[in-house]
Amino acid sequence: MRVLSGIQPSGSLHIGNYFGMMKRMIDYQENQELFCFVVNLHALTSTFDAERLRKQTYDALGDFLALGLNPDKSIFWVQSDVPEVTELTWYLSNITGMGLLERCHSYKDKLAKGIPASHGLFSYPVLMAADILLYGADRVPVGKDQKQHVEVARDLALRFNSTYGETFVVPEPDIEDTIATVPGLDGQKMSKSYGNTIEIFVDQDNLRSKIMSIKTDSTPVNEPKPTQGNILFDLYTLFLDEQGKAELKERFLAPGLRYGDIKKELLNTIWEYFEPYREKRAHIQKDDVIDILKAGAVKARTVASEYLAKARHNVGVDYFN
Ligand code: ADP
Ligand code: TRP
Repeated sequence: MRVLSGIQPSGSLHIGNYFGMMKRMIDYQENQELFCFVVNLHALTSTFDAERLRKQTYDALGDFLALGLNPDKSIFWVQSDVPEVTELTWYLSNITGMGLLERCHSYKDKLAKGIPASHGLFSYPVLMAADILLYGADRVPVGKDQKQHVEVARDLALRFNSTYGETFVVPEPDIEDTIATVPGLDGQKMSKSYGNTIEIFVDQDNLRSKIMSIKTDSTPVNEPKPTQGNILFDLYTLFLDEQGKAELKERFLAPGLRYGDIKKELLNTIWEYFEPYREKRAHIQKDDVIDILKAGAVKARTVASEYLAKARHNVGVDYFN
């Protein structure tokens, strides 16, 4: 099975990104064919500072490698190193109904967050569909917020195949129900744009102040604590196995539990969980990353050019044939 996903280089990675998508991608490299990339062309919809884009692209790449992505077991590259994707975006654009894009929540959400309305932002899902179809991906691991975009890619694959003849694999979204949406410090979806994130690579003081600011309810100490919709409970269980989760639930249901104690435990748990990754992150050199990416782009382009040649032929732009 071919698994593919990408992440925008738009700021520090947080534990919502990690559990929603990155960890699952890294786990897939052990037994599936993994395609993983940093989508810097998508980031152009909201980043207008070239120096910042370069830095954030490099940071996202280094973070992925530190967290365990192994370029020997996967294909790892930067989106703009495979220009074929923009050509495919155009072919797909011509079979994309306006209504399909008008129904996408993400466009409206981004406008509400103050990102300028542009043609690029509106057609963002078409570029994402090209990302997926160009590599023949079967499965796309994403958080719940990206499900609709993967469904657009499915629709476009089906429409392209029925209009021009069998060309593309029809992809499936891959969403882990138990961690579909990791809550942020305030209980909304954890997201860079809501300022409610717990970043992966932070110093301990920063992490402490974030954990201490997690919103809790005012249940008295001697009463059982709710577990449903409890931000602290939901965040802590991300780091526990089934048995650990059951034990934590029992502790919440028994009187006497203090949220302050749980916050301290969570702080230690997160700090220790990411300890080996922090060490690895500190040793990643820019030159090593660049070599890895160059090699990744060559492999990615080999697959991309086969799908693109088929698409070019099926739409008829190869007039010389
Ligand atoms: P952000 O909302 O912080 O800007 P991105 O849109 O860059 O995050 O998301 C990158 C990946 O991480 C996507 O697959 C997205 O679905 C996933 N993701 C982001 N936030 C969460 C979350 N809170 N819970 C689960 N998955 C998430
Ligand atoms: N839109 C995705 C996000 O914001 C990033 C993305 C771009 C992507 N192309 C993709 C994800 C292809 C999966 C597959 O998170």
